[in-house]
Amino acid sequence: MREDFKALIDEVRNKQDITKEQLEAILDCSEEEEEYLYQNAREVSDSVFKKAVYLRGLIEFTNYCKNDCYYCGIRCSNRNAERYRLTKEEILNCCDTGAALGFKTFVLQGGEDPFFNDDKICDIVSSIKDKYPEYAVTLSIGEKTYESYKHFFDAGADRYLLRHETANEEHYSKLHPASLSGANRKQCLRNLKEIGFQVGCGIMVGTPYQTYEHIYEDIIFMKELQPHMIGIGPFIAHKDTPFKDQPNGSVKETLHLLALLRLIFPKVLLPATTALGTADSLGREKGILAGANVIMPNLSPVNVRSKYLLYDGKICTGEEAAECNMCMRKRIESTGYHVSDTRGDHPDF
Ligand code: SAM
Ligand code: FES
Repeated sequence: MREDFKALIDEVRNKQDITKEQLEAILDCSEEEEEYLYQNAREVSDSVFKKAVYLRGLIEFTNYCKNDCYYCGIRCSNRNAERYRLTKEEILNCCDTGAALGFKTFVLQGGEDPFFNDDKICDIVSSIKDKYPEYAVTLSIGEKTYESYKHFFDAGADRYLLRHETANEEHYSKLHPASLSGANRKQCLRNLKEIGFQVGCGIMVGTPYQTYEHIYEDIIFMKELQPHMIGIGPFIAHKDTPFKDQPNGSVKETLHLLALLRLIFPKVLLPATTALGTADSLGREKGILAGANVIMPNLSPVNVRSKYLLYDGKICTGEEAAECNMCMRKRIESTGYHVSDTRGDHPDF
């Protein structure tokens, strides 16, 4: 272990801040050093969340998307993607299944699908909230206007996930066509926060052209935004995208960054993502042991799961919701953590 590594971690933990040089030194740390990093992340996480892990039932309700992000398997140019939409009844059925399995949050995620206009989304959200008033509804349906977000909030949506993908505009333009801008995505996040949502931003680790400098800028942006959730997972190439030959993001670097984010944002909700579980069969367990405290088991009907393929090799595409639920509960318990039966709002909410 480098002589000053412990002092470095202690400083980041105490200051809840980091310099560019410190970030590079920590992301690059050795196996021996990372144990100290993870241990500190767990101590911080445990002091806030008392070893609780929150489950969110993920409903992937449409894979139609009008956008063409270079990394994403459901981009509009991918003619091989078999498109589907769930009906409102199917979505409500997923919620019934999720409620029976003990989930207190439903996450509605989809491509940017114009079929689901504001009225349809509001109708779905309010129908869920009518039936399950005590449950949280999270939306993850991309960039919309301030007014649309306000309608969703007024219909009862509690939270919104919108990864900013990268805070650096030039890097953003290497991952997206010119019709999309990082500036608009960041503004969306600010709008969501102002409206009153619990807001999640985030990035993929190891996207093409990403540098340490970019990740540092991501942390600066997060410090400014003060999100309630931060979603990070490794980039994984999809065979039908322009990035098909690009190397996947590293599991180690993802775990190092998860732990660092826990030190800098002690109270933030931090998922151990499906992408992490895809890149490493024990990735989600390792994520919890590096400071993550949220898992999002899949609630989508089995017949559509293998169609919501953002990247190659995605796990949990053949299992029923009940199987994923049991599997995840066992996996969480194997880490010494326990599944919480609360909604798992951000501690300040
Ligand atoms: N359309 C919504 C949006 O843009 O936020 C939600 C769906 S979008 C597919 C959800 C997230 O999947 C993206 O924010 C991105 O970070 C992640 N993602 C897409 N392609 C990926 C890939 N190849 N590897 C890992 N994560 C990916
Ligand atoms: Fe889906 Fe393990 S979480 S099979």
